[in-house]
Amino acid sequence: MNVSPQMELSRHINSPCSNSQHWTYLMCPPDHFRVGYEINPWMTQAIQPAPELSSEQWYNLVSNLKKAGAAVEVLQPVASLPDMVFTADIGLIDKQSFIKSHFHYTERQPEVQHGGDWFRSRNYEVIALPLGAEASLESSDIRPFRGYLLAGYGFRTTFAAHRALAHLSHCEVLSIEFVDPRLYHLDLSFCPLDDRRAMVAPAAWSRRGCELIKALVPEPLVLELDEALTFCANAVVVGKVVIMPSCPARVGRILERWGFTICISPVSEFLKAGGAVHCLTLALHESFS
Ligand code: ARG
Repeated sequence: MNVSPQMELSRHINSPCSNSQHWTYLMCPPDHFRVGYEINPWMTQAIQPAPELSSEQWYNLVSNLKKAGAAVEVLQPVASLPDMVFTADIGLIDKQSFIKSHFHYTERQPEVQHGGDWFRSRNYEVIALPLGAEASLESSDIRPFRGYLLAGYGFRTTFAAHRALAHLSHCEVLSIEFVDPRLYHLDLSFCPLDDRRAMVAPAAWSRRGCELIKALVPEPLVLELDEALTFCANAVVVGKVVIMPSCPARVGRILERWGFTICISPVSEFLKAGGAVHCLTLALHESFS
């Protein structure tokens, strides 16, 4: 089919990407953020985030998201829940449904109740996955991509939870196993850039997982382990703007060659808890299909 310039233009104007309110993120300010326990290899209670710098970095991220054309909604922080800043973990969004996470560690489990209340007050359908006693699911282990739900398991999410999610969502869930505890969530090793391209860090996955991603992603930007350990894949992509905690030079050259604009939003204080830019945002515009 030939596409006339007019058709291209109207397609552009009507595409959701031209609507600035299309991207909306739920974030929770770091009023009570600290390293309160140690549940991933990056956390040590001996090294605490500086409160003022945390706040400065968080507000700077909000401003970078807005400059890129996104809107930000705020979830009230709770004093007893220091990791609540990492809103990406509290649940999955599928249009007007909020599927609650079931955190692996008890320390984070109460966050879900607060998230659920927020979504209920906005008329979302709040769904609890039917999970067995040993099962857990953390939303940043799951990412819709090319009509599938890509799902990691091994550290925070169990394989059994993938099956429950497939059953509930009627989506095909592609399961990949994690092998490196430093890259313990999917959003540390997989970052979709558009519907063909993604940053991928094979060092995080089993051999079968790597093969699956290879078949799934037509144009991968393959990260070396040292690149992935900078958390550069823990990025938020707003149209053509990639908001990242930092960017290795080689990765930056490829992103720019692909037409992306890089926005560095430093989050050194949040890295002390093992989280970065993507972890701090829950995409409310997400849908499974
Ligand atoms: N300290 C938090 C935890 O270990 C960090 C969460 C990071 N979130 C993420 N989406 N990778 O649970």
